[in-house]
Amino acid sequence: MARFTVNGDLVECQNEDKKLMHFLRDDLRLTSVKEGCGEGACGTCMVLVDGKTMRACIPAVSKLEGKNVITVEGLSEREKEVYAYAFAAMGAVQCGFCIPGMIISAKGLLDINPDPGRAEVKKALRGNICRCTGYVKIEDAILMAAKMLREGTDIPEKRITGKLGEDFFRVDAVEKTLGTGLYADDLVVDGMVYAKGLRSKYPRARIVSIDASAAETHPDCIRVITADDVPGNIKCGHLAKDWDALIAVGGITRYVGDAVALVVTKSKDKLDEVLSLVKVDYEELTPVTSPVQALADGAPLIHEGGNLLSRQFIKRGDADAAIAASKHVVTRHYSLPFTEHAFMEPECAIAMPDGDGGILLYSGGQSIYDEQREISGLLGIPQEKVRVKSMLVGGGFGGKEDMSVQHHAALAAWIVKLPVKIKFSREESMMIHPKRHAMEIDFTTACDENGHITAVKAEITSDTGAYASLGGPVLQRACTHAAGPYNFQNVHVVGNAAYTNNPPAGAFRGFGVTQSAFAMESNLNLLAELVGISPWEIRFRNAIRPGEVLPNDQIADESTALEECLLAVKETYDNAEYAGIASCFKNAGLGVGVPDTGRCIISVEGGKVHVRSSAACIGQGMATVLIQMVCETLGLPPSLVLTEVPDTTRTPNSGTTTASRQTTFSGEAAVIAAKKLMTDLAELLEQKACGLSKNDDNCIDAELAKELLLSLEGKEYYGEFRPDTDPMGSDKTNPTSHVSYGYAAQVIELDGQGKIAKVTAAYDVGTLVNPKSAEGQIEGGVVMGIGYALTEDFPVEGGYPKAKYGTLGLIRATDAPEIETIIVKKEGRLPAAYGAKGVGELATIPTAPAIQGAYYKLDGVFRQKLPMEDTYYRKKGK
Ligand code: FES
Ligand code: FES
Repeated sequence: MARFTVNGDLVECQNEDKKLMHFLRDDLRLTSVKEGCGEGACGTCMVLVDGKTMRACIPAVSKLEGKNVITVEGLSEREKEVYAYAFAAMGAVQCGFCIPGMIISAKGLLDINPDPGRAEVKKALRGNICRCTGYVKIEDAILMAAKMLREGTDIPEKRITGKLGEDFFRVDAVEKTLGTGLYADDLVVDGMVYAKGLRSKYPRARIVSIDASAAETHPDCIRVITADDVPGNIKCGHLAKDWDALIAVGGITRYVGDAVALVVTKSKDKLDEVLSLVKVDYEELTPVTSPVQALADGAPLIHEGGNLLSRQFIKRGDADAAIAASKHVVTRHYSLPFTEHAFMEPECAIAMPDGDGGILLYSGGQSIYDEQREISGLLGIPQEKVRVKSMLVGGGFGGKEDMSVQHHAALAAWIVKLPVKIKFSREESMMIHPKRHAMEIDFTTACDENGHITAVKAEITSDTGAYASLGGPVLQRACTHAAGPYNFQNVHVVGNAAYTNNPPAGAFRGFGVTQSAFAMESNLNLLAELVGISPWEIRFRNAIRPGEVLPNDQIADESTALEECLLAVKETYDNAEYAGIASCFKNAGLGVGVPDTGRCIISVEGGKVHVRSSAACIGQGMATVLIQMVCETLGLPPSLVLTEVPDTTRTPNSGTTTASRQTTFSGEAAVIAAKKLMTDLAELLEQKACGLSKNDDNCIDAELAKELLLSLEGKEYYGEFRPDTDPMGSDKTNPTSHVSYGYAAQVIELDGQGKIAKVTAAYDVGTLVNPKSAEGQIEGGVVMGIGYALTEDFPVEGGYPKAKYGTLGLIRATDAPEIETIIVKKEGRLPAAYGAKGVGELATIPTAPAIQGAYYKLDGVFRQKLPMEDTYYRKKGK
């Protein structure tokens, strides 16, 4: 038995081999200690042991004998309030999953050095990964907390209105900082049992037989589930129903993440033991591991319909003729790798029987309604019988759109009639969920003698892996945005997405544009050289301006501010010795004629305004956006406005958190609903003959507002935003492909050794909702883009992923550079959501090509493959 103290209390653990993390989480229910990787690589489980930081997933409790362990729960009340304030005030919390671990590392530093500089803070955080924030705001928050603790500063009172443009604190900042907010794995349900999938041994193999008899005799085994047990449609998939929930005997696996069986056990510790008793006979088949192989004549078919998932063809003007007549032409081939989302929270879901023939699912995905639809199909029950509630989501970036654990948890709970939790290990998470698409791109860009772009011709081949996921739309966006945010009209882009036996690829921040923008922007630098102008100048000469026609034939609306973005970074670019620049644009919303609806219900309950939307917050701060939209519309103080968590019985379907759409779509739906409530409020004020009297903050006085709301108790107001867009290939002149586009320009400066010295990022995000949130999104996106350019890779050999979490190449605080964020302003604005545009994806896209340009300037090597080789960050062949 091991004895030690945790947060001042003496504790005992009978099982000396138990990992400290599991003891803290499972036995003591200390939810600030998060399991991000279980292999010592991420820092989410960080605790203090005798004053020193330690990852709790590493040591067995036997090593703690006589020691003193501190978790965030054990901080003094003063420390808790200071850290909670500083992290909220600095906008340091996004998905929040890394934050308690960060606080522990901060405390470890401040306890011995109460007045650290930024470099010391960075060093203290080098064992903690944050995938959302880019570290800047976390460092700011720690420096602020240090000052407050040092100087004994009181927590400042802040007057808040909740209106747009205000640094309104995120509503979930405190619970995420202190670790009291619950993610799916923090939830414990009475009688809960556990399930895990047995994954295919080979990327491509026929399942000859499955023998579960030995497993079923194990005392801990409740049930082994196979494809034969699925009551409904075994095929899942949001757009194409091609993903088997379980591979049946006689069926052929498509990648190593395919589930062959599910085991359900009483204890989670026995899952692997029981899984090892399930015997599967495979007939191993040669895998198809590249799109070239997949599309070759005679290639084995991965899906019945063939190996071509999607073919995109975009043609405007006459690119061939324009290229032939152009003064300068550049053609290059680019290779972009698979990359892994590496969100900090591995997938987890809990499902349980609910009422009469229903299922209740707690999950942390990107759309509760997608989960509801998939589960209802799999179980063969009506959608209304499936209730899905969202827990906090520890990051997604597109990687939590598909079914991973949710459908299996629901299936297991349905069959064993018990609450079932499925939680992926980090290894399972990396193996199973879709990646960023690997793409091979041939790209030709031409211009005249003055550097005016005349044409683009490109061929894009994308590896969508075993299943469609979002591979069709990702390829489409790669193609539609390939020509960039520039004013020219000759475009010829062909795209092919092929199924292979690699892990599936799907949505990932940037959604295909990250890849094609790298090619276009890199080519532009070569053209600038041929013309004899700077990379900044060629972008400025071609930048799309309001009223001009984008290469996709859509007229740039009056909010278009690429010119302003470029001007904002000009001086920095001109003054830097080794700088690269890139610009980009990204759509908000699904667009291209696909039905796309934002919905929101506002109800008045208990004298408060409840904002009900299913828009998933995956770290971007959706609840805060909605509250600010509603406060702006109603002029009510934010203390009277709250958001509900997504729940299919309470919150209307507002679509998936994808395509940078939620700020505009759910934001506008909330505004529409709020305006209806405003009509009633105005009427009541009129009856009271006090008009719309506002206080100094231009808000309705809180006491009066409360009184008015009480008289509207129980009323509901519905808002829906469903803008029309035109389909691909529309014969309209100047079709509307997307409701809006955001624009950006980034400059990357290198020092003489090739280390990034500074990033200057100018963004057109329309009307600014929350400055700190927008900056945080941009900083996080930039650091993700740095990883994409320089260090991140997800090697797959023969269909087998080779990466571990610790070898993914994720950027740490010590490698994150200074980032200056500039939000440009523009008079013109879009009509929806007060003109706010999403920034989530836009943030990542220009970084890699800007870095490529900077290195080209530094050493003259034109790099066409990511992650780049022979840099400060990565030596050749690594
Ligand atoms: S869970 Fe311990 S370091 Fe990741
Ligand atoms: S806030 Fe750090 S990982 Fe999400």
